[in-house]
Amino acid sequence: MVKVAVLGYGTVGSGVVEVIETNKKLIGENIKDEIEVARVLDLRDFPNDPVQNKITHDFNDILNDESISVVCEVMGGVNPAYEFTKQLLNAGKSVCTSNKELVAEHGAELLSIAREKHVNYLFEASCGGGIPIICTINSALTANSIDEITGILNGTTNYILTEMAEKGESFEAALKKAQENGYAEKNPEADVEGHDACRKIAILSSLAFNKQLDYKDIYTEGITKITKEDMLYAKKSGLSIKLLAMSKIQENKVYSMVAPFLVGGTNPLYSVNGVFNAVFVHGNMLGDSMYYGSGAGKLPTASAVAGDVVEAVRRRGETIMTFDSSDSLKPAPHSEMKSAFFVRVPNGALDEAKKVFGHVDTVNADGLDDETGIITEIMSEAEFEERAGKISKVLNRIRIK
Ligand code: HSE
Repeated sequence: MVKVAVLGYGTVGSGVVEVIETNKKLIGENIKDEIEVARVLDLRDFPNDPVQNKITHDFNDILNDESISVVCEVMGGVNPAYEFTKQLLNAGKSVCTSNKELVAEHGAELLSIAREKHVNYLFEASCGGGIPIICTINSALTANSIDEITGILNGTTNYILTEMAEKGESFEAALKKAQENGYAEKNPEADVEGHDACRKIAILSSLAFNKQLDYKDIYTEGITKITKEDMLYAKKSGLSIKLLAMSKIQENKVYSMVAPFLVGGTNPLYSVNGVFNAVFVHGNMLGDSMYYGSGAGKLPTASAVAGDVVEAVRRRGETIMTFDSSDSLKPAPHSEMKSAFFVRVPNGALDEAKKVFGHVDTVNADGLDDETGIITEIMSEAEFEERAGKISKVLNRIRIK
């Protein structure tokens, strides 16, 4: 009998219990043993839920129970999840998690403890929810040198941008709708300011490049400055606005960034809409590939955690997930990153804009008679900032992918 514990009986935690209970027979066949959720840690009681007789409020009941070999940490947040995970790994238990904050902050250290103790620290659910992108990078793509990962890694912002594009709503109205539909938190900052996508691209990049990329080194912009007017131009130009999280290797440097981009119709990320996530990966042998699916939600996320449980049991005694934490990867300064830019200026500043940017294409959006959009040539961020600073008024600017 494989005994599993779950830390946190919130949305994902209750999903993990549901996946294991619903697919008990199938999972049992896959691990060639029976599986049972033996304990669930939560501060609360759940009197009308069958899980109540497994609830404990004391972490030590799980830590000290030698019959429990795998623990699902689905509490979220860095503390106390970090201390709990360290103690569990040191006690010889494998830990499977959806906790992207913890993986991004302390993943390298936790992986090295797992290696030392010959157990597993697995985090498929931390990026892209139900999309099996981590095991793909960690196994199926390991014969490739990966030189680009670009993802739509946050469902909340993708939903908001899709609503703005399709319904002509403002950012504020689309955010409110996302909150009403349960797609955005009451405090939406981590999503709308790009911090969540930043942590996820840091995790994927560390695995793909086998060196630790610190999320704090990634230049991050959210979607709060995207307006209805920007969407009108995007529509007119046949482009869509997406919050992209990307890491690219060019001339032996890694460039990492999270920001809204205008994406063209030939890019596979163009038509990823609503709460869906997608990850584009380019490998030197593989070429282009894209992975698409539910990036969040109770059961897709829980199914990824439970899949890791199966893997931890099947690969008992061997550590399967790793990246070289002794070597850190510093992204090149964001000022060196290059893109073309879409810039909106009032008509009074159009001549100045044409002068500083040289030859530009212009776009006019329906109903916006007082302003014009221009598309610059490809240039570095530093060069763009310097030139744009010479224009008396810029209404907005968005990078073009
Ligand atoms: N808030 C996150 C998102 C949840 O919208 O993608 C999944 O990590």
